[in-house]
This record gives sequence, structure tokens and C-alpha cells, in this order.
Amino acid sequence: MSLDMKVDGKSKNRADDLAQGILGTPMDRPEGLLKVTGEALYAAEDLPGNCTFGMLVSAPAQGDVTLSNEAEIRDMPGVLAVIHDPRMVRNAAQGTMDEAPVQGVDHAAYAGQAVALVVAESFEAARHAAQSVKLGLSGEEGPIDPQAVETEESEGNRFVRGDLDKAMASAAHTVDAVYTTPSMTSAPMEPHAAVAWWDGDKVTVRASLQMLKYNRNELADCLGIDSENVRLLSPYVGGGFGSKLGISPEAVAAAIAARELGRPVRVVLHRRQMFEVVTRRSETRQHIRLAADGDGRLTGLGHEVLVSNLPDEPFSEPVTQGTHFAYPAENRLIRKEVARIHRPAAGSVRAPGEAVGVTTFEAAMDELACAAGMDPVELRLRNIPEKDPEQGIPFSSHMLEPTLREGAERFGWFDRDPELRARREGEWWIGTGMAAAFRVNILSEAQARVRLTAGGAVVETDQTDIGTGTYAILTQIAGELLGLPADKVETRLGDTDLPPGSGSGGSWGAASTGSAVWLAAMELRQRIADAMGCDEAELTLKDGQATCGNVTQPLEEILGGESLVGHGHVKPGDALEEVMQSTYGAHFAEVAVNDVTGETRVRRMLGCFAAGRILNEKTARSQCHGGMIWGIGMALTEGVTHDRRTGRMVNRDLAEYHVPVNADVPPLEVHFVEERDPWAGPMQAKGIGELGICGAGAAVLNAIHHACGVRIRDLPATPDKVLAGLLQ
Ligand code: MOS
Repeated sequence: MSLDMKVDGKSKNRADDLAQGILGTPMDRPEGLLKVTGEALYAAEDLPGNCTFGMLVSAPAQGDVTLSNEAEIRDMPGVLAVIHDPRMVRNAAQGTMDEAPVQGVDHAAYAGQAVALVVAESFEAARHAAQSVKLGLSGEEGPIDPQAVETEESEGNRFVRGDLDKAMASAAHTVDAVYTTPSMTSAPMEPHAAVAWWDGDKVTVRASLQMLKYNRNELADCLGIDSENVRLLSPYVGGGFGSKLGISPEAVAAAIAARELGRPVRVVLHRRQMFEVVTRRSETRQHIRLAADGDGRLTGLGHEVLVSNLPDEPFSEPVTQGTHFAYPAENRLIRKEVARIHRPAAGSVRAPGEAVGVTTFEAAMDELACAAGMDPVELRLRNIPEKDPEQGIPFSSHMLEPTLREGAERFGWFDRDPELRARREGEWWIGTGMAAAFRVNILSEAQARVRLTAGGAVVETDQTDIGTGTYAILTQIAGELLGLPADKVETRLGDTDLPPGSGSGGSWGAASTGSAVWLAAMELRQRIADAMGCDEAELTLKDGQATCGNVTQPLEEILGGESLVGHGHVKPGDALEEVMQSTYGAHFAEVAVNDVTGETRVRRMLGCFAAGRILNEKTARSQCHGGMIWGIGMALTEGVTHDRRTGRMVNRDLAEYHVPVNADVPPLEVHFVEERDPWAGPMQAKGIGELGICGAGAAVLNAIHHACGVRIRDLPATPDKVLAGLLQ
């Protein structure tokens, strides 16, 4: 069954009629036991016989690269090859999917870029040899500081209407602030890894990737072969967060080396390479201006941002994505500039755009609430747009108000004393803060196949599960429609021999590939109903029995010993031209700020979210927890420091780049406001993977301000910055 989402927003709400009690429940991950017992084999763990081991070599600086001691390296014990292939040094750019990355030159475009691969009989020999490689570098060095170069305007993100300067001049209340956010990294637990082997002119690569159908084309493009000759396997992925969206050097290098050696090759990035060899989130500089009337209603808003990337890279952090639709204001100035510099390639990292853009904007909204002497929740409630403020089209649904109200209620928001520095416990200032959350909802083309036999069903798609719960959710969808318990449904993922799913990116995996599974299972229901001579809507499938009206027949009899195969194919269509579609939420945080050290501890945090139908309550909650934890990191600790001379990441390990650990994270509360968005697809589910991070950091920053009166605009709010504010 195929569905083009130009359908009119009236897709039938069948999931509510079926009521089998499988979809939506907090079902455990079917592969959970394998994962916690170490039996789920990740990319680097399942080695073919005769496998060799490769280690990438990174350039310490920009420039044309030569290997000065190549012959010596080749003679080292166990070394099989030194590969310095220009195709291999490409970056994993993500601006255009399907096409190979653009930095395809025999040149290190930035310090830290992979430039060679050493292959040996053992991992240890490869590592030793890679560490012994001497590189010669020469050539012009490009700029590395985004503030020091001429920038180029990005047309795609521009929106100008009215006269913001005039609105600012005549407003009752204004905010004019510059926020900055540092480079950040995806930091998945499982490093990038690939094992490649050839069979004639066909290559198979077991890798840790998010978007197999695109990665297959990208790899084929790098290797100069037909994508039919590439098979990718990613059955388990230990976190992606964006760095694994595009094909990256370890996979390309492994494939090139395996072809050259005629043996399988494994390449794993070590933790320090995980910072520079794969893409980072761009640093941003954001000039935010807000103008409001005496009632706190926005009359003007400005969001002018600067981001960076390497020359020619198509991606630029879409910082203002949420700003375009979040709040109404007649006078608007939204623009973006890109600085072309030679720091590691910038790409998507969890909630590209909103993660940093909503966070800063929501901090600025808190500044406006303070300027207007208004409660921050009330300020948001007064600024809920009736339609998309720029395109003029309606919202498919708008759930900001219910999430704000429910979140505030559950958190006990209105008990707060609005005064700054009103609560103190010993050395600690205590305060609360809130922020709204927005993330655009995207449906992405996806296909899936469901095979039904009398004994159960098999779901097949190349979709990945990057820790998000795809195995569980797709199992539930098929189970719900076919009346099968979870243990009778087997879900097979992460293999490009299977129908192409949507891939795991942009929060769209569950709703998009899930819709394809839905349609495939619907086709099966239709065919069973036809065989029984009844309407699909009248059909009940349960425990191997099919019931239509007062006729019940065993499924086995209907199938006659055969299996029935359904195909599902969902396409985005033009629904987004008619409606603006987003997910919404509200974050609330309580922090304690130490008056002596400037240290901030988050004491409790609560998020209330709406993302259409919640397909699995447990995995959805887990996604929101993860997002909120990232928000704590963004607010308090995470940030790459670039060396001012080379652009190199100075703190390229998890000791110096601090992602929040258990000790940093208080009990997190997550609540969902269920909604049915008829435009969201046949299941009425929207993406939730990235919503939890959007704005989360702002709730923490705003709480710091409420606690101790210090407004941090240069993220993260490390103790030195907070202390400097306290001492003012
Ligand atoms: Mo996401 S940053 O689209 O993996």
C-alpha cells in the first residue's frame, strides 16, 4: 500500500479503532536482553575470517600532505599496507544526501582530518605503525576563526518583514542580546566503525551508520562503483546523534583497503578521532532582538546568526529553523551568515538548528519576561501564533499551551517567588527557570515489507535502530494491526538488501518507517478481508483468528499454508505546503548555584511534550530523558575549545569535553500530552527523538538567572563565568 501525504489531513484514525493494546504501551525492547548481555554484535565486533585491522592517521595541521616515511612504515612488523588515497580523506558532509562528500582532495582541509590508513595483521600493530607515520605538510593555511573572516549570506534562512529597528524604538519592552554557543560533538558511546570485504565486484560493509539507503549511494560514489554493488549492514548502532548520518572516512577507507588487499579490513575510530574525523555542531553567534508592547505581545523579533563550515560544504547549522514559526511578530528580521573556515567539518548534531537556536531564543524570551515584569509562562501564552507567522498557513496542531499549562502545574511553577536571589540555602542560591520547546516535524519517504504466516509475522526494512527503539516500535505496529503479540513478530533491520526505510535522522524514523510498516500490514489486512468477503474496517485479527461480523476463521486456513507479503511505501507529498507542522513542549528546571564557587547543580527537571501519538511510552520517554540531559550539558559543561593557531580541538576526549554523567543529572520527569494530528500520517505520530533537547538548556540558564541574578549568554555556564557574574 502506498500513501502520498498530500492527503488532506483526514487520514483515518484506525489506530484508535483497533485497540489491540500493543501500540503505545511501554513495551521493552525485543533486542534489549541481547544488548545488556553483550550478545548484540556491533559493527566492530562481528569479524569475518582472515580480517585485517586498519588505523587512520590524522593530519596535525592543514596543508598538502605527504607521507615522509612510508617505506619504513611498510617494513614494520605485521604491516600490510599504507593507503593514502584521495577518495578516503573526504569528510562526511551532510548537506546533500546520496552524493559523495565534497572535500575530495589530497590535502588536509583542517587539522585533525584523516589522511592515511595503515593496515596490519593486528590492531596493535596497526596502531603502533599509525603512530609512527611522519607527515609532511605544506601549502597555504586557511582561516580558522569565524569572527576573523568575511562571511557569506545564506539565502535559504532569510526572512525580512516590516521594520525591526522601528519596532524596537517604539516598543514598551525590548531585549537586544548576543548569545554564543561553542562547537559541540555527537559523542556516541559506540565509536564509528566499519568492517569491509569484497566478493568479486561487490562490497559488503558492516558499519555504524544512521541512513543506510543514502550511505549506500555515498559510498558507491566514493568508490566509483554502482550502488547495486554496495551492501551495508548496521543491525545495531550504539548512538548516532548526527555524526553517523553521512558516510564517514572509516567506512570509505575500509572499503578501499579491502579491495586493495583482497582481505577484510576493520577500521575503528579511536575516541580522540571521534571529535575531529567526524562532523561537529557549528559554533554560533546569535544576535537576538525582541520588541514587545505593554502586554508582552511581540511586535518585532530579530534573529541574526553566524555559523561556520569548511569552504564548499553544503551544510550550515539551521539555527533559526524554530524562530520562523515559534512566535508571532509583525516586524521580523531573520538571517544567517556562514564563515568559511578550516575547522573540522560542521554537520548535523541532534536537533540541528533548534538545539542551539531555540535554546538561545528561549533564554532571550526570559530576558523579555524580566524586562516586562511578567511571568515567563504567561509571556509565552500571550505569544502563541494563530497561524504560521511567516507563511500564513495554519498549524496542523499547536500544542504549546497545553504542554506549558500541564508542565507548569506538575512542576509547581506558580509557587515561585518571581524575585531574583529570593531563596538561599547555605552557600547555594536556589532558582527555577522554564523554556518552551519546538521542533519541526518531518515525514520522510520510507518503505517496508511485512510477511505474515500462520505462525507470526516478519517486518523487514533497512531502517536502523540507533538506540531509539525502532525494533520495539515496528514490532508493535505490525503486532497491533495483525493481532500478534510481540514475540510472534520478528523485526529485521539495518541491511540494504531489505526495502529502504527512512533512515534515523531528523526525528523522523519512527513515524516515517513506522508508517511504511503500517501500510504494509494494512495491505495484509485488506487482503484477508477480501478473502473473507468483508470490509477491512470490520476485520478483527487476534490470536491467529480472523473475525468478520459473526464469521471466525483460523488465519492458517485463510493463508492455506502460504505466506502473505505486504509492501508499504510512504511519501511526504505536499502536506507541508498546506500546514505547518511541529512538535511542542515545555521545560522546567530548578537549580542551585554556589555563591562561593559559581558551580551550578540542577536539582530537578521536568519536561512536558506533545508529539502526536506516542508509539511506545518507554522508548519515547527515554528519548526525552536523553534530550534533557543534552540540554544540561549544553547549558553547563559541553563545548569544544579550538586551538587559536590551528583550529584543532584541544579538549578532544570525554574527560575534557564533559557530557553530563549520572552525578550531573537529577531525577528527570517526563510527561506526554497525547494528541491526534491528522496531518502526521496514518498513525498520527510525530517525531520525538530531538524534541527533548530543544530549549532544555534555556530552562537551566534561566533558572541560574532567577537563582542568583547572573545572566549567561556565552554558553556553557561554567563556574568561572557564573562566578565572574556573582562578583560583579
Ligand atoms: Mo539527527 S542530527 O538528524 O541524527
